[in-house]
Amino acid sequence: MTDKLIIFDTTLRDGEQSPGASMTRDEKLRIARQLERLKVDVIEAGFAASSNGDFDAVQLIANSIKDSTICSLSRANDRDISRAAEALKGANRARIHTFIATSALHMEKKLRMTPDQVFEQAKQSVRFARNLVDDIEFSPEDGYRSDVDFLCRVIEAVIHEGATTINVPDTVGYAIPELYGNFIKTLRERVPNSDKAIWSVHCHNDLGMAVANSLAGVKIGGARQVECTINGLGERAGNCSLEEVVMAVKTRRDYFNLDLGIDTHHILAASRMVSQTTGFVVQPNKAVVGANAFAHASGIHQDGVLKARDTYEIMRAEDVGWTANKIVLGKLSGRNAFKQRLQELGVQLESEVDVNAAFARFKELADRKSEIFDEDILALVSDESVTHIKEQYGFVSLSQHSETGERPQASIVFTVDGTEVRGSSEGNGPVDASLKAIEAHVKSGAEMVLYSVNAISGSTESQGEVTVRLQNSGRVVNGVGSDPDIVVASAKAYLSALNKLHSKADRVAAQG
Ligand code: KIV
Ligand code: ZN
Repeated sequence: MTDKLIIFDTTLRDGEQSPGASMTRDEKLRIARQLERLKVDVIEAGFAASSNGDFDAVQLIANSIKDSTICSLSRANDRDISRAAEALKGANRARIHTFIATSALHMEKKLRMTPDQVFEQAKQSVRFARNLVDDIEFSPEDGYRSDVDFLCRVIEAVIHEGATTINVPDTVGYAIPELYGNFIKTLRERVPNSDKAIWSVHCHNDLGMAVANSLAGVKIGGARQVECTINGLGERAGNCSLEEVVMAVKTRRDYFNLDLGIDTHHILAASRMVSQTTGFVVQPNKAVVGANAFAHASGIHQDGVLKARDTYEIMRAEDVGWTANKIVLGKLSGRNAFKQRLQELGVQLESEVDVNAAFARFKELADRKSEIFDEDILALVSDESVTHIKEQYGFVSLSQHSETGERPQASIVFTVDGTEVRGSSEGNGPVDASLKAIEAHVKSGAEMVLYSVNAISGSTESQGEVTVRLQNSGRVVNGVGSDPDIVVASAKAYLSALNKLHSKADRVAAQG
């Protein structure tokens, strides 16, 4: 007997709460489409009541995605729940996820409410939500640090009111696998109507155990839903990583004996898309999606893998979207080969016009770079000319001069609302000079809190992918740019961050 493990992805909600990871509505839709391709069961598209931008994103995703259930987070109050229901109106399958804190610390210090008040509010909110949609998830925030008797009382009541999923968050990443697994088991045993709901785990990674805790919640506790994010994106040390939990359950089916609906071939493309959109670079040794995850560098390993791949490989790289031969296309590759490669990578462009735009960018790149890797293709389809995301600032051209013993200089041409402007400056290095040349014109006053360069496919011939994190008036945004010339990549990343600062100017913080 096997049963199904539901994969609930919260990249667009909990993942997006990570400072700097905020995404535009169109970026969220692209990621939601990729999650649908992955066959994620539930997509938490946002927190509709937190801002007009979040409402629009949830609504757009609810209207566009047909195969996955679309969920909106909502605090446990009628206004939030009504906003969530309104945003979800167009969904084939809609879920409202309502939450209220239940730990003594959170109730007293954050909510300033008594346990009885929290109990009543939880009950009333689920009752109210249940009148609007059938699929209701309830989360007792900071559940793992809550008093178990109180938690059982609240959970029994909300199931009685119609909650169909009970999610038990380890909000602060404090749990240990065995203890968390037993905690879920105890709750399921003690709540009299526990069999009327699906139990779910939601773990944060502060002690590096989010995946282990989630798996213990499944194995020991009997949870049948895992909440997770692509690349483990999330506040602080992040959330449980989707690719790790999925591949653990799939690879160790002998142990978990659970079915999954996920099409794992789209995992890598999802990882690249989230990393490129948010500017959160994936570490090379990250399980499943890191550049080294399937690289056998040592002679002994290479020899073993060549003789019989299962000597050192427990998963097949192809199964998560890595191709055996990573050099895919070059200057002479035609439009059909390019289009087929896009399909194999799980990239679905909106129209033939978009394919043409992406192909034109590919040809430009192939003129400058002899070998085009999958990573290059994934980087170029994020480009503005392909995504049609209309930006305030756009890169046009750059020239810079640097010589030993002289102060570097840069001149840049970029567009502001479609009009070309020029700036020039000197700086400590060519990158510094280029960014100062932009800033001399834009005068954003933003503080740079992170600058990082990553070689997309691991050699000096590859494209550089630059992330720039800017902070201004309490807002933090990441911009990403890629180009074989890292000075150009840096300028693109800086302009991309300025665009995000601009577009996020009217956004309210997304957590209650
Ligand atoms: O970590 C947490 O407690 C949450 C809840 C809102 C589910 O993200
Ligand atoms: Zn969370």
